[in-house]
Amino acid sequence: MSDLMEDPISGTSAAQEAGKKSHPKKVRVVPESLKKFREIQALAEAGGPPEKIAAQKAKGKLTAKERIAYLVDEGSFQELGLLMETRCTDFGVKDKHIKGDGVITGFGRINGRLAAIFSEDFTQMGGSLGRTHADKITKLMDMAADARVPVIGILDSGGARIQEGVDSLDGYGEIFYRNTKYSGIIPQISIILGPCAGGAVYSPALTDFVFMVKGISHMFVTGPEVVKAATGEEVDFETLGGAMTHATKSGVCHFVANSEPDCFRQVKELMSFLPQNRFELPPLQATKDADERKISLMERLCEMDPRKPYRVHHVVWWLSDDHKFLEVHHNYAKNIVVGFIRLGGRVVGVVANNPAHMAGALDINASDKAARFIRFLNSFNIPILTLIDVPGYWPGVAQEHGGIIRHGAKILYAYSEATVAKVTLVLRKAYGGAYIAMSSKLMGGDINFSLPSAEIAVMGSRGAVEILYSRQIKEAKEEERDALRAKLAKEYSDKFASPYQTASTGSIDEIIEPAQSRTRLINAFRLLAGKRRPGENEHTGNIPL
Ligand code: HXC
Repeated sequence: MSDLMEDPISGTSAAQEAGKKSHPKKVRVVPESLKKFREIQALAEAGGPPEKIAAQKAKGKLTAKERIAYLVDEGSFQELGLLMETRCTDFGVKDKHIKGDGVITGFGRINGRLAAIFSEDFTQMGGSLGRTHADKITKLMDMAADARVPVIGILDSGGARIQEGVDSLDGYGEIFYRNTKYSGIIPQISIILGPCAGGAVYSPALTDFVFMVKGISHMFVTGPEVVKAATGEEVDFETLGGAMTHATKSGVCHFVANSEPDCFRQVKELMSFLPQNRFELPPLQATKDADERKISLMERLCEMDPRKPYRVHHVVWWLSDDHKFLEVHHNYAKNIVVGFIRLGGRVVGVVANNPAHMAGALDINASDKAARFIRFLNSFNIPILTLIDVPGYWPGVAQEHGGIIRHGAKILYAYSEATVAKVTLVLRKAYGGAYIAMSSKLMGGDINFSLPSAEIAVMGSRGAVEILYSRQIKEAKEEERDALRAKLAKEYSDKFASPYQTASTGSIDEIIEPAQSRTRLINAFRLLAGKRRPGENEHTGNIPL
C-alpha cells in the first residue's frame, strides 16, 4: 500500500498505520452493517425462545444444534440457509420471523468424511414442516447427491405446518421424491428424536436406516387420540409408536438407543462401514487380527446335535476381525441375523440364520429383513457373507395366508439380483427351498463352502422317511416302528444328509476344515475383490420391503 492509499475498510492510510506506534490506539468502530449482521446471526443461531428450549431439555432432549455437535467432527459443520424464512402470510406465521424456518441444514464431517445433515428444531413452531423448511431439506439433498455424500436427517417435528396448508404437504412430497430418487446412490439415514407423525413417517421409511431412542422417539401415521376415536383402542405414545415397538413389532426401526448421545455413537459406528456413495468402496480398516486365526468353535459346531439351538452371533463374532459385529435390526425377526463385519480389513455384510430363534427357519418377517439388507449391500458395493443353518420355511396357516410365498420370494430375488461378491458357508444344515434361497450357487453364489458335518438335503431325514416309507411304517408292528424309523432315517441321512453329494455336483465348491473358516472366507473375498467395480452395476434403489 502506498502512503497515499487509503484502507477501504478502516479508512486509514498506510502513513497513519505506521504512525500508530507513537499515538494512542484509536477505538475501532464496528460498522452498522456488521453490527446488524452479527445480531441477526446470533438471534438465528440461538434457536427457539428460552422457555421452549427449557421444555425441550425437560423432556431429556438435546437441541437441534447440540445434536449436530454430537454427530460431527468438532468445528466441521458449515450451515446453509440460516436466515431463510417462511413466505406464508396466513395465520401470522411470517410475523414470527423464524430464522431458518425450524430446521438447521448444512455439511459436516463424521470421522473425517463429509455428510449432509439436517436437524429439525422442535423449539421453533414444534419443528413443523412449512414450505421453506422443506425447500431447505430438498436443496440439501440435491447438493448431497451432486457431491455424492450421505444424508443424515434428524427428525423432531409436529409434522406438516398446519398454517401453511397444502404447501407443506407438497414439501413432504418433494422430500419423499428425493428419498426415492437418491436411494441406492447415496446412503440415507434417519434419526427420530421426537415426534414423527402422519405422512411425515414416510420419509424415514424410504431411507436406508432408522434410529430411535427409548422414551424420546415416536412414529405413527395416526396418534393415540385418532386411534381411540376411530377404533376405540386406548394406547399410549410409547406403546403405539415408541422405539421398542418399531424395533420389535413393525420393523420400521433398525437401531435402538438408550439416550441421544448413545444414538449418535451408533450412527457414527454405522457410518464407518459405509461408502460415501455407490461409486465408492467402503473404507478399508487395518487390523492386527491374523487372517490365519483358527476357530475351534467351528469344530465344536460339527459335533452338535443339528436340532440344538445356539446363537449364530457367536459364529459371526469369532469369524470377524477383532470380534466386532455391528448388528442391524437386532430386535426384529431374530430368526435371521444381519449386520456388518470386517474380514481381513474389508467390510462385509452378513446374513445368517439364527437357530436360537424359531430354529432359524425363514418366515415372512425374516424374508423382508434379509431381502432389504441384501439390496442395500448390493447398492453400495458391500460383499455378502451368508451363514446357513436353516431347517426350511416356518409352517402354519398364518404364514401361508400372510403371504410367505410372496415375502419369501424377496430373498430369492435379492440374492439373484445382487452382483457383489457372494460367499456362503453352510454351518450345520440346509434343507429344501430355504437352502436354495440362501445364496446357493443357483442364486448366483460365487463361492459356496460347507463344514464337513453339514446336512444338505431336500428335507430332514425324519420327515423324509415318514413320506417315503409311510406304508412300511404303518404295516410294521407298533413296538417295532420307532426302530424302523431310526434305521430308515439313518440310511437316508447317510446318503443325502451330508455335504458330499452336493459337493460332487458342484453346488458346494469346497468342504472346509472348520477351524480354518476365517482364513478361507477372507481368501474367498480377496479372490472376488475385482468381481465388480464400484458404480459398474446397474443402479438399484433400496425399495422398502
Ligand atoms: C404447526 C405445530 C404443529 C404443526 C406442533 N406445533 N405441531 N404448529 N403445525 N403441525 C406447534 C404447537 O402449536 C406449539 O406451538 C409448538 O409447536 C409445540 O407443540 P406442543 O403441542 O406444545 O408440544 P407437545 O405437547 O410436545 O406435543 C407435540 C405434538 C403436538 C404431539 C407433536 O404438537 C401435536 O399433536 N401436533 C400436531 C401433530 C399433527 O397433527 N401434525 C400434522 C400431521 S399431518 P406454540 O406456539 O404453542 O409454541 C402431517 C401430514 C404429512 O404431517 C403428510 C405428508 C404427505
